[in-house]
Amino acid sequence: MDIARPLQPTADEERFLAKLAQLRVSHPDNLCARYLTRDLFTSFGAAERERLHDCCRSGAENPESTVGCYILRPEDLHDFDAFFGPLIRQHHGTLAAEQCITDQNADDMDLAALGLPVMSTRVRVARNLKGFRLPASMDRGERIRLEQSMVQALRVLIDDPLYGGRVYSLTPEFGPDPANPNLIDDRQYQALVDAHIMFRNMDQDRFMKSGGLAADWPYGRACYVSADRSVIVWIGEEDHLRIISMRTGAELFEAYDRLRQTLTAIEAIPGIDFVHDGAYGYVASCPSNLGTGLRASVRVTMPSLTKPGVDTKAICRRFGLSARGVGGEDAPIGADGRMDLSPIRRLFLTDRDILATLFGGLGRLAALA
Ligand code: ADP
Ligand code: ARG
Repeated sequence: MDIARPLQPTADEERFLAKLAQLRVSHPDNLCARYLTRDLFTSFGAAERERLHDCCRSGAENPESTVGCYILRPEDLHDFDAFFGPLIRQHHGTLAAEQCITDQNADDMDLAALGLPVMSTRVRVARNLKGFRLPASMDRGERIRLEQSMVQALRVLIDDPLYGGRVYSLTPEFGPDPANPNLIDDRQYQALVDAHIMFRNMDQDRFMKSGGLAADWPYGRACYVSADRSVIVWIGEEDHLRIISMRTGAELFEAYDRLRQTLTAIEAIPGIDFVHDGAYGYVASCPSNLGTGLRASVRVTMPSLTKPGVDTKAICRRFGLSARGVGGEDAPIGADGRMDLSPIRRLFLTDRDILATLFGGLGRLAALA
């Protein structure tokens, strides 16, 4: 009897599997290592293994990854459901289910009443466009075409008096002709990063670099900023687009409303169609951004939570919140108590639930402080 046996792994695959096996023990929070077992990997044929290896390279090369994989094509989610399904449910589902607060009445969500000094709010969604490969699979030409088509599309906002503003681009050249009219220099770029408007140098992000998302930097990387600097659209970062509404103070709902209006305006632009999946919502490069793709964050100062010896991230996680330093995702949280707090979950719940989780979690943290 001829029983189909799994293909023997190649030497390269053996090294990859050995690394993951080692990380499963040394770094239990690395979800990629936890879920990509040898049996699972070898259950696929050669072509699928190569694709799965590409999705998981970042987790194997960066032990401290918390997710450790990226989606390179929308169909990866279903072709590799045996891998992505449990990993996604772990990140967004079971673990955070008890930590998600959904019974909060919207009318009662007044951040100022919590007595926490909220310095600013930022609400964003991650979106990818049909008609382009996902960021980790793009080449330089496609990244440039994406930027050029978005610069054209976002004229709708620039020409609208409610938005105005302009595009700032990092693409050195689009080709000999025409020159890039939106190109900024290093000093202008740094000023936008310092103002928390523009994204940081992706080539210096080891997770994105291993995953192929930083390739061709800085080609195809740009951002639209409204005249009052409260609406921002990142072009060509971890997802094709990050649509952002940001403001000083505690007006979380106003920031969210402005984001919804902007999203509606962008969705109405002819040719704009976002990649959406029946099971996993809006498709993002990172499994952590699937679903609503919404990250609602407030910047607060809570020095009692950042004192030496206090595990700030673990305390916030208990309430379904992720704590980041004020310089962005991987920036350290300083002892001065300043941090950016946002709900971890974006999938299997509504935008309103996300705002309620943020509000509820902040209330519980305020009670501890
Ligand atoms: P994301 O993953 O949501 O796109 P990052 O953590 O990479 O965001 O942060 C991007 C930029 O936005 C950083 O400069 C960060 O300091 C800034 N930022 C995030 N949250 C806030 C906030 N609530 N107020 C002001 N700036 C913020
Ligand atoms: N790939 C990184 C990790 O696994 C980032 C995960 C979440 N952040 C993000 N920007 N997608 O730790």
